[in-house]
Order: sequence, then C-alpha cells, then structure tokens
Amino acid sequence: MPIEYRPITEDDLEAAARIQAWTFHSHLDDSWMPIVREWFELGDFIGAFDGQDPVGVTERYPFEMTVPGGSVTTACIRGVTVLPSHRRRGLLTEMMKRQLTAAHESGLTMSALEASETPIYGRFGYGIACEHENWSIDRHRSGYREEYSWDGSINIVKSDRTRKVFPEVYRRAAPLRAGVIVQPPNPFWHEVFGKEDAKDTNFYVEYRESEVEGCAVYQIKGGIVSVSLFLACNDDAYAALWRYLFDIDLVSTIKASDRPRDEHLVWMLHDPRALECKPRDRTWLRLIDVPKALSSRTYAIDGEIVFEVRDSFCPWNDGTYHLTGSPSGATCQPTTKSPDITLSVDDLAVPYLGGSPFTPLAHAGRVEEHTPGALRRADGMFTTELKPWSPMMT
Ligand SMILES: CC(C)(COP(=O)(O)OP(=O)(O)OC[C@H]1O[C@@H](n2cnc3c(N)ncnc32)[C@H](O)[C@@H]1OP(=O)(O)O)[C@@H](O)C(=O)NCCC(=O)NCCS
Repeated sequence: MPIEYRPITEDDLEAAARIQAWTFHSHLDDSWMPIVREWFELGDFIGAFDGQDPVGVTERYPFEMTVPGGSVTTACIRGVTVLPSHRRRGLLTEMMKRQLTAAHESGLTMSALEASETPIYGRFGYGIACEHENWSIDRHRSGYREEYSWDGSINIVKSDRTRKVFPEVYRRAAPLRAGVIVQPPNPFWHEVFGKEDAKDTNFYVEYRESEVEGCAVYQIKGGIVSVSLFLACNDDAYAALWRYLFDIDLVSTIKASDRPRDEHLVWMLHDPRALECKPRDRTWLRLIDVPKALSSRTYAIDGEIVFEVRDSFCPWNDGTYHLTGSPSGATCQPTTKSPDITLSVDDLAVPYLGGSPFTPLAHAGRVEEHTPGALRRADGMFTTELKPWSPMMT
C-alpha cells in the first residue's frame, strides 16, 4: 500500500504521540497527553500513514525568533519521527518537503530545529547557525579571580512561584542574543520544569535585587549538580548565581548544558582549567525565503554583497541576490549582476545569526569567493557582538 501524507488530526494524535515515544525509546505515558494536546493546539502536524496507522510524524510551529536587530517568525520543526519498520524509504524527505512548502506558502521566512544526529538535515537546506557549550566545572577549583560583590540576595524558591517569575526573567535576559525564541509558550516551560513529579528532583533558585534579575534550575545526583537553566539579566546576578551553585556542599562537579559559546565564566575563574567545555551544534537553521531573511536582519557595518545561492530542495530560492546592509537595516533583491560569492543555502544559514563567519567555510571548500575581498566584507557585515543562543530547545 502506498504511503499517504496528510495532516494529523485530533483522532490520530494519540497514535502519533505513541510512535514518537517509541522512536525516542520510551512509552507514551497518559500524563503526557495533556501536554501533547497543548503542543498540537500550537502547530501543524504532518504524518505519513501506512493504511490507518501513522508511521511518521513531523511538527511545525510558527515561533518568533530573534535575529540581529529584530525578530523573524520561524517554522520550528520538532518531534521528527519515522518508525524503524519504514526507515530509509524517503518518508522524512517527503514530510520535510511538505512542511517547508507549507511554511513558505504561509509566508514564513526561515525554519529551525535541533538535530538528534548531524547527518540528517543538511540535505534539506539546514546549516548549523548556533553552537552551544556543555560545561563541567570542578567545584574544588571554582574560586573567582576577582573579589566580586553584589547587593542582591539569593533564595531557593518553590516550583509554583517559578512558573510565574522565570518566564519574566527569560523575557528580559534571553533576547539579548540572536537565535532565541521570544516568549516561548507554555509547553516549552513544561520541558524546563518537567512533569509534576519533577518537583521532587528540581531545585529552583533566584537572585533578587529590587526585582528578580536571575534564576537557575538544577538537579543533584551522585555528587553532581546539573544546571538545566541559567538566566542572568546583569553581571551581578551572573556572578552571584554561579557562586551559589559552586558553594553547594557535598558535591564534586557542576555540569551546565547549553551555554552560549562566548560566555565569560571562564574569565572569572582563578583556575580557568577548572571549566571543561564541550561545544556542540544546537540550532540548525534553514532560510525558506532567502531575500526576505537577508533583509530581516541588521548588519554590523555598511556593505553590499551579491550572493549566488544554490537550493535544490526549495527551488524557489535558487538564484542571485543583491544584499545592501547596514546597522539600521537591509534590502535584498534578485539581481542579474555577477556574484561576489557562491554558496548553498545550508552554508548561508551558518553565518546568518552571527554564529560563525564565511571564511572558514571557504577554507573548507564549501563557499566560493569570486570577487577578492568579498568574504572579508561579508564576515564584517554578518558578525554580531554576542554569539547566538537558544536556551530553550528549538
Ligand atoms: C531520522 C529519521 C526521521 C529519518 O527518517 P527516514 O524516513 O528514514 O529518512 P529518509 O528515508 O527520508 O532519508 C533521507 C536521506 O537521509 C538519510 N538519513 C536519514 N536519517 C539518517 C541518519 N540518522 N543518519 C544518516 N543519514 C540519514 C538517508 O540515508 C537518506 O539518504 P539518501 O537520500 O542519500 O538515500 C528516522 O531515522 C528516525 O525517526 N530516527 C529516530 C528519531 C530521530 O532521530 N528523529 C530526528 C529528530 S531531530
């Protein structure tokens, strides 16, 4: 029987959630269904059906994501699943084609996701736009190099308070960088706080001056503090909260996941080697509408570049574009001029949020410079003061 592709309806939802759970090595627990329904209300799910049964699922959500100088409505793709019985027959390829076409038709500019494995999404035009660091810090070598002081206080807080206060801290702290989901809806916060029973394993702490300026969520197990969320609106909150975490007795190590690549904790430590850092790809970005995406951000310096962009998966993008950018805005139009730079759409996504420059991609043989100096000009334009970050899983 041929595979049928169609939107997942309310009637299909439980079966779809079940195969998603199986694919990620667990079982659907009834207590998750209300959360699955909340996600379902927010997005568009496309399924692959073998007869009546869903055998593949993809979810698409229109979330606002910060870009340099603004924000862009972005099709976030989540919950990508194909059952082992139906793998490597092109089901994901077909679902991605449908999701990206639908996102394009509804006027969305770009798409973002987090990849379970790195070889999957380049073929669909996604590139690594945001990298993170996972940290492991030796608590016994966590002394600060300078005498920091702060006026605020730190309190352990109850989980019911956090659901009100932490999203407010996020609203002020996170969007300073590109790549951040602006005002993530409730289901994102369920992932941070976990289910009701996570109340017993999560600790919540806040740093308060006249208002709450920082917060963290952590767990402690086997002598390790694992920090799953850390937000600071100012340097005092940053120094005070890390000091608090380092001063928890009866533990040896503090682990923190998904920190931005340019954070300054390492410069605060007396012994920088106490912090071991492992970089990892986080947000994979796909420019669905290249000229709209390039004209939706600001640029560090005034400049013009003609890009030839190759895009076989979304052929409407394939073409040559003239970008004129500045710190106050940009225009980008199709052009008949000869290109300064030729590259594929997945490689254009890499510098888009300011994560990494063009030049290393050119050295890797992925980007071609036709006009001498064009790469340096493009690097100068696309760079950002702060590296991109995605504190919530996209
Ligand atoms: C990843 C997954 C959705 C792929 O589905 P699929 O229907 O088998 O993918 P397709 O058949 O459309 O594959 C298209 C191409 O991608 C390649 N590919 C797909 N998944 C891959 C993987 N995990 N590693 C390497 N290559 C992969 C295929 O080999 C194929 O290559 P080809 O075009 O050169 O033949 C499926 O394996 C799965 O559900 N995995 C477990 C859950 C998961 O990791 N989901 C992704 C969450 S981000």
